[in-house]
Amino acid sequence: MKLWGGRFESGPSEIFERFSGSLDFDRRLIDADIRGSQAFARALERVGILTAEEREQIVAAFDAIRAEAASPSFYEGATDEDVHTLVIRKLKERAGAVADKIHTGRSRNEQVSLDTRLWLREECDQARALLRDLMGALVDCAGAYPEAVVPGYTHMRRAQAVLWAHYLLAYFEMFARDWERFGDARRRANVMPLGSGALAGSGFPFDREAIAAELGFEGVTRNSMDVSGDRDFSLDFLYAASLAMVHLSRLAEDWILYSSEEFGWLELGDGVTSGSSLMPQKKNPDSLELIRGKSGRVMGCLTSLMVTMKGLPMTYNRDMQEDKIPMFEAADQLAGSLMMMREVVQTARLIPEKPASAAEESWVVATDLAEALARAGTPFHQAHRIVGQFVLESVRGGKRPADWTAEAMRKFAPEFTGGMAALLDPRKGMESRELPGGTGPVTVAAALAEARERLERMNL
Ligand code: ARG
Repeated sequence: MKLWGGRFESGPSEIFERFSGSLDFDRRLIDADIRGSQAFARALERVGILTAEEREQIVAAFDAIRAEAASPSFYEGATDEDVHTLVIRKLKERAGAVADKIHTGRSRNEQVSLDTRLWLREECDQARALLRDLMGALVDCAGAYPEAVVPGYTHMRRAQAVLWAHYLLAYFEMFARDWERFGDARRRANVMPLGSGALAGSGFPFDREAIAAELGFEGVTRNSMDVSGDRDFSLDFLYAASLAMVHLSRLAEDWILYSSEEFGWLELGDGVTSGSSLMPQKKNPDSLELIRGKSGRVMGCLTSLMVTMKGLPMTYNRDMQEDKIPMFEAADQLAGSLMMMREVVQTARLIPEKPASAAEESWVVATDLAEALARAGTPFHQAHRIVGQFVLESVRGGKRPADWTAEAMRKFAPEFTGGMAALLDPRKGMESRELPGGTGPVTVAAALAEARERLERMNL
């Protein structure tokens, strides 16, 4: 069936039909399409196009179609142009002539916008729920090792000691922003477009607010041309998904390193790693590598739709049908990656001695020493130089921080006074970082408790 054709002397070529059809993928919108069409039938009744009985007949037929659509045979042999056409054909088969009225004053351009918005709303909710689950796993992992110290890195070089919990809570913050971003994306998608017609507004005086209320939208769109040419809501979703994947990918990268033999901090669960067909000893972090790999795909989806949209003249152009595959693809890869990461986090075991000795063997305490000197009155630039020379001397002599005594330090530089030698233990210096946002143990314990409370409040 076609929703057009009167103006043509002959039908579409086979090649064009195959090339332009979208049913294979946009059938994923069928539930949204039916929900939207049921609301539209009620709107048609309100403007006097459908009688109450006709509307009832149509709404009931749509219910039956929805149930039928759950079985794969529903699509067998379907050659309809898209899901919207398929649904109307099915309506005709069930309800007969009255189905000819369902598309009165409606365009597929606004219909596809409506369906996508309905679908995206749920997808945003799902992404938020999965983000929240992952954040819960991160908080649990932080809580399991409240004392663990690790070297924090800049430039992939040991920089300053931090608590493992502080490190994990950094990712908690990134995912908390993602959670908010999906809320924003949902809010922007949650505006009702019907009544826009193809581009110029419908020729029927629909009560748009009533349709919006019925479908749970927060309001109605303001400009029919904007609706017809708009995919910002899909792009908002794709951006939120891409950035969440960036965060997942960075966590994956960290943990691939941290679980390597070179680091040896983390033991990944057997269930999320795989072996080698050749090398019997291997335990590879494939789950994390795939998360990192899939992040590229999701970013590709964002780029793909950006590029599709950028040169389009106002308003609707068929190019826009190409929005769906990247949108579905990004949603699936994101959901899969979030679930996978949660399981990796839940099953990983930290071996706290390893990062602790990495912190103790290196000079992550250098900044603590320089700051202690500055606190005792040495101008910071001088303090920086003294500690730099102290590190150089140690490196030359093969000395680790623990090899120094207070006396030897004072001999090296008289500025090293009082209890400064205690700062050779990385745990000690952390105690000076108790300002909000710092890695001081008291601050981190409070941040962890606060993170738990925030999780409780993260309802949709
Ligand atoms: N399948 C189309 C899409 O997803 C529906 C809109 C078709 N509109 C049109 N003017 N050809 O974009």
